[in-house]
Amino acid sequence: MDERSVSIRKASRLTRTLLVARPAAGYSVVQRLLHWGVVLLCLTQIPTSWAIARTHMTHAFMQPAPFDLFLHRVHAWGGWLILAFAVVRIGLRYLHGVPPLPAASSQITRWGTAVSHALLYGLLFALPITGTGAMYVNSAAFAPIHRVLTWSLLAVAVVHAVAALWHHLIRRDEVLRRMITGVRTAK
Ligand code: HEM
Ligand code: HEM
Repeated sequence: MDERSVSIRKASRLTRTLLVARPAAGYSVVQRLLHWGVVLLCLTQIPTSWAIARTHMTHAFMQPAPFDLFLHRVHAWGGWLILAFAVVRIGLRYLHGVPPLPAASSQITRWGTAVSHALLYGLLFALPITGTGAMYVNSAAFAPIHRVLTWSLLAVAVVHAVAALWHHLIRRDEVLRRMITGVRTAK
């Protein structure tokens, strides 16, 4: 076995350790819908969180606006839906599988993908848990953690989106297209 095959085997071992999945030819329709659904839900979490800030700015003589209270609830349910979608997506990694990176991908690309996808899933779990803690358990303890995690998600998601565009525009491979149109890669 040549040096390149050994490094690819090591990188696949890392992917399996961080995020177990079986190989597939492409992402299924459900996997793609859930990916873009989570992106949309994460974006709506931003304006609804402003309503949470407004409801907390009120005091004894000033009741929060009913619409802000409604958006507060939308934020919580949006977060729980993101958690549910993340659980289903992890299940689909085992049941349907995920396509491997193009054969020409370097070791650093493989490791970067494994680490960033593991971080994204970790954040999609940790955010709803800390958000629920901030709302129902102990705001002083959980709200600062939840806030740091929202900025972490923003940072990792920006790097992730730039990487997807790099694959599409510079490497000109099928990585972005297989998450949009479902184009399949040979197993
Ligand atoms: C992936 C899911 C979630 C995302 C992306 C998200 C995002 C955000 C963002 C961007 C903020 C504003 C942070 C800031 O002011 O700097 C925020 C605040 C907040 N979120 Fe979430 N959230 C999620 C889930 C939840 C859930 C499930 C709940 C409650 C059930 C929740 C409750 C809160 C609360 C109470 C705050 C205000 C914290 C504070 O006092 O500063 N979040 N969230
Ligand atoms: C909140 C924002 C985002 C989150 C949380 C997120 C999360 C994820 C996760 C967890 C995966 C791994 C899926 C799996 O194999 O199980 C993934 C894959 C992918 N995402 Fe995102 N994503 C976000 C935004 C974006 C954006 C904006 C783009 C495009 C510009 C994008 C393009 C892709 C592509 C192409 C893949 C497949 C990578 C591959 O086949 O190896 N994502 N995303």
